[in-house]
Amino acid sequence: MQNNDQDIHAQPILIVDFGSQYTQLIARRVRECGVYCEIHPFDIDPQHIAEFNPAGVILSGGPESVTEGQTPRIADEIFALGVPVLGICYGMQAMASQLGGIVSASNKREFGHAQVEMVSPSKLLKSLGDGKGSANVWMSHGDKVSELPTGFICTGSSGSAPIAAMELAEKNFYGVQFHPEVTHTDGGDRLLLNFTKDICGCAGDWTAANIVEDAIAKVREQVGTDKVLLGLSGGVDSSVVAALLSKAIGDQLTCIFVDNGLLRKGERDEVELAFQNAIGEGELSPLNIITVAAEDEFLDKLAGVDDPEAKRKIIGGTFIDVFDREAQKLQDVNWLAQGTIYPDVIESAASKYGKAHVIKSHHNVGGLPERMTMQLVEPLRELFKDEVRKIGLHLGLPESLVHRHPFPGPGLGVRILGEVKKQYADVLREADKIFIDELRKADLYSKTSQAFTVYLPVKSVGVVGDARRYEHVIALRAVETIDFMTARWAHLPYEFIELVSNRIINEISAVSRVVYDVSSKPPATIEWE
Ligand code: XMP
Repeated sequence: MQNNDQDIHAQPILIVDFGSQYTQLIARRVRECGVYCEIHPFDIDPQHIAEFNPAGVILSGGPESVTEGQTPRIADEIFALGVPVLGICYGMQAMASQLGGIVSASNKREFGHAQVEMVSPSKLLKSLGDGKGSANVWMSHGDKVSELPTGFICTGSSGSAPIAAMELAEKNFYGVQFHPEVTHTDGGDRLLLNFTKDICGCAGDWTAANIVEDAIAKVREQVGTDKVLLGLSGGVDSSVVAALLSKAIGDQLTCIFVDNGLLRKGERDEVELAFQNAIGEGELSPLNIITVAAEDEFLDKLAGVDDPEAKRKIIGGTFIDVFDREAQKLQDVNWLAQGTIYPDVIESAASKYGKAHVIKSHHNVGGLPERMTMQLVEPLRELFKDEVRKIGLHLGLPESLVHRHPFPGPGLGVRILGEVKKQYADVLREADKIFIDELRKADLYSKTSQAFTVYLPVKSVGVVGDARRYEHVIALRAVETIDFMTARWAHLPYEFIELVSNRIINEISAVSRVVYDVSSKPPATIEWE
């Protein structure tokens, strides 16, 4: 348990982002070491660095080359902080080049496994690899450090990168050419533990129990005796916010659950059930949930609309109207709770630099805070999804809810291609239930990251028994992914797909054919619209 004087943010690690696809992974691995960290862009205001007062700094990899003029550099202030610095890949090269070493360009990229030999004892590389001084690591680079900066020694060497690890121990400056944050690097987690605990001296008190306790204290301080409103959707984030707030402020919390007619079968009941156990065991107080039956309102507005972005805007806008209307009926509510998580915060900060590219408008309740004159309470703002799940379990929510696949805000609205109709939504709900139930039965649910069915309003001929059937098509979609930015279609067993297909066609007369989607992302997206 956290004692009251403990500040779990007191020894943070600053992660300086040079644009690597692995930057968030570095942060997640550092958090797994029990250490709080934040990601900031490489051109962060130096004053912010000082205010952040890090216990150590990690410089990420990046797509650029330090051998070219206008590429990102490390702020000099970082080397003057007097704290340990670890450069990874581009971060190591930038460090080497800025401290007087030489980086050479190479026209051949090295990508994949490599063997690094430990050539000198190192606090950073201690206990890495096979225990005999050799480790299998993951490389992804073109350039490499060819001459060490003054005072540095080489601690690790690989065939293609003779200086694969370097350090200046008296200043605690370290660099590795390989990627300790990816699981392919043997003992990469050990390296990050060595850095954060042994080298930076972090206490490792960033644990689920402490995070919950800290969040509860903050929420209580923030809202006092005021009432708080939350849009509960059945997804992981809003459910964990509900559990956390219920624990922190009990019946000062009211949840609104909007049934927009585009939810999965039994969605509302599933959330209720999930909370019942935790409530029964005395972990949480009973939730005040107001359910708003707004199916007709949503479907009326969607009638005749087939453009995906127009549908998203209508669903998002109607949600705000309905939610706002219900909130007006409540007295004295001045806080709106939201399940914003850390990747949302990083992405909206990054978009200032013009890097974010909108492929689909992922707005759920984006317009709500502006419309409502309420203050925001966002207790998950600092957390990655895996941390949200951990604290959900810690709060007593069941695995089945906490490890649920993501479900998009517009719900079945983007899984019924073209115009949305109630009869299509009803069919899709049945098909989806069959697919998900079978995945759970076959122990495949947790092996896929997201799985669902899609309604294709094209007609196809079939024959069931002796009768001809001319009905619509259901597509099965299942993907494996870590970050949902890229995804591979799940290689589900043929027998399993056959079973699901048979059940859907036999049990749902409005379906004549089932197909399996074998597109990966990119070039396809996970959802069909
Ligand atoms: P795509 O289809 O862009 O999906 O590959 C990536 C992830 O985002 C989810 N998704 C959405 N989530 N509102 C949401 O809240 C949306 O409009 C939306 N569109 C896609 C999708 O389910 C997947 O997990």
